[in-house]
Amino acid sequence: MKKLSVDHLLGIKYLNEDDLHLIFETADHFKEVINRPIKKVPSLRDTTIANLFFENSTRTKLSFELAEKRLSADVINFSASQSSVSKGETLIDTVNNILAMKVDVVVIRHPTPGAALFLSKNVDACIINAGDGTHEHPSQALLDAYSIREKFGELRGKKIAIVGDILHSRVALSNIFALKKLGAEVRLCAPKSLLPKHIETLGVTASMDLMQTLKWCDAANMLRVQNERMDLNYFPSTREYSQLFGLNKKKLESLKKEIIILHPGPINRGVEITSDVADSKNAIILNQVENGVAIRMAIIYLLVAKLNISDT
Ligand code: CP
Repeated sequence: MKKLSVDHLLGIKYLNEDDLHLIFETADHFKEVINRPIKKVPSLRDTTIANLFFENSTRTKLSFELAEKRLSADVINFSASQSSVSKGETLIDTVNNILAMKVDVVVIRHPTPGAALFLSKNVDACIINAGDGTHEHPSQALLDAYSIREKFGELRGKKIAIVGDILHSRVALSNIFALKKLGAEVRLCAPKSLLPKHIETLGVTASMDLMQTLKWCDAANMLRVQNERMDLNYFPSTREYSQLFGLNKKKLESLKKEIIILHPGPINRGVEITSDVADSKNAIILNQVENGVAIRMAIIYLLVAKLNISDT
């Protein structure tokens, strides 16, 4: 059996191209499984997984939980707001107490960049990063790239635009790493205030012209404006942002070519994308969500195979 080069999923930065293809091939198998009448396999019936969410989530939390249950793992869920974290317990103490209950894998979402890496160095469990602040969101990038691959057959040579709040986006950074490793061309499009300095050193181009970017690309990933991470005004008004960087049906139709539209969710309808685009045939937003379960099953399955604790 082919194995991943890593023992944890901390970021796309740490994966190589073979890892990405292995995750996709494994996800192809699990996508077939979750479309069967019986959507479950017994692969991880000896594995216990804890989902630790220190930040809100709808898609990632439910998708990981469903992926774990589809693999027959035992699952426990932890929400920081209902825990003893509010009484002053440290992250390491919290996790070590959970691991004392014989947990094998920890899925963690945390507002602090580097939280997953920190845990991997300080506790004895397989760690999966479900989003660490503005740093990385590797499972999201994997499901995004997988969904584009599903549409086009492969990523190599494809032109992918990432539009919007790049500065505060963990999705953007993980997408850049994944798409570049898979041979795609990447262009970022955002107001200058939302483009990190020196971002071109990652091998991407940057533009402030949405129409030019859309004419160039095969697929556009429209990022959410992350108001909760903004302590300053990065653009004069939401109305101006949506006029210059938001995607509506009129702009899409004026391209006179078909492009596919992704969005990681949650959507600010009418800001980065209008409803007539989000609900159009160009949008693959719900395919992304469906693929997220198969991708997360693949990630967990392949990492647990490295733990050598199950009969997979
Ligand atoms: N895409 C994503 O991470 O969504 P949630 O915040 O709902 O998990």
